[in-house]
Amino acid sequence: MKQQLENIRQQALASLEAAASPSELEELRVKWLGKKGELTAVLKMMGKLSPEERPIMGQMANSVRAEIEAKLEEAKAAIGAKVLEAKLAAEAIDVTVPGEEVTLGHQHPMNMVLQQVKDIFVGMGYTVVDGPEVELASYNFTRLNIEEGHPSRDRSDTFYFTDDDSILLRTQTSPMQIRFMEAHKPPLCMLAPGRVFRKDEADATHSPMFHQIEGLVVDEHITMGDLKGALVAIMKQIYGEDSEMRFRPHHFPFTEPSCEMDMQCHKCHGTGEVDGNVCSTCHGEGWIELLGAGMVHPEVLRNCGIDPEKYSGFAFGMGLERMAMGRMRINDLRLIFDNDVRFLNQF
Ligand code: DAH
Repeated sequence: MKQQLENIRQQALASLEAAASPSELEELRVKWLGKKGELTAVLKMMGKLSPEERPIMGQMANSVRAEIEAKLEEAKAAIGAKVLEAKLAAEAIDVTVPGEEVTLGHQHPMNMVLQQVKDIFVGMGYTVVDGPEVELASYNFTRLNIEEGHPSRDRSDTFYFTDDDSILLRTQTSPMQIRFMEAHKPPLCMLAPGRVFRKDEADATHSPMFHQIEGLVVDEHITMGDLKGALVAIMKQIYGEDSEMRFRPHHFPFTEPSCEMDMQCHKCHGTGEVDGNVCSTCHGEGWIELLGAGMVHPEVLRNCGIDPEKYSGFAFGMGLERMAMGRMRINDLRLIFDNDVRFLNQF
């Protein structure tokens, strides 16, 4: 029996020494120490021993069990460490490898200016609205007091969809005045930015598609002074407190009286010359046209069911590209639409 215990001890320790995985260890634990294991089998035979031998063998069996248990723990720890080491090696991250550079984009310069303009108007109580780009001629022209036969209705200027010229790509955002007055009663205060379309060849200052921002205010006792005050306040916020503005008389069919507002040229500061040459930005004018405006024509108010005896209003329409060019010192309109990143990255 002593020999048997000694064999178990040696074999068990050797097998534990050779074990390579946690599952193998578990198998060996069952084999050597389990209820049906080798050691248990030997202990079952203790009853056959003489009373003198029994405690000696019992002691030996216990020490063999203790030795196997200790070896088992040791092997468990060793295998655990090896498994962890292998896992760490497999998942290692080399923090010295240079990272991938992520380039962040930003808003298009046009959207930057549009956002700024919207913020300023919203701060003054205007409601920002959107409208259709495919428009009825009645909204784009007729109800804006633009008569049949007016040059702007000509097929050489306007994209029409139908032979009877009743549906078109809007040539201005002014039809939004009619749409807004149809849906709202005064007092009203609206801003309508959007795309407009004209049959123009693209050059430094023209594009067949461009953006306008329409504004409309209607209430009792609105005067040209309100128009001037609002537009000057807005332009100073956009172009700076010290920027120079001027108003010129003009004609639009849907406003009376009408005017245009100019900003002093940012390139030549109103002189019309740069280094002895004619200024290329304002073509020697010294001024850059920003917008058309005026007091809403009584006929237009009437066309929308608003009594011109009681109410008056002002309206304006500005070119967003013009604003962006002045604001960001861009000399050629086409750059805005080309979307060359070397250009866009400058803003
Ligand atoms: N719609 C005009 C244009 O495209 C600009 C304009 C002028 C709008 C006067 C207005 C206005 O609201 O009152 O040339």
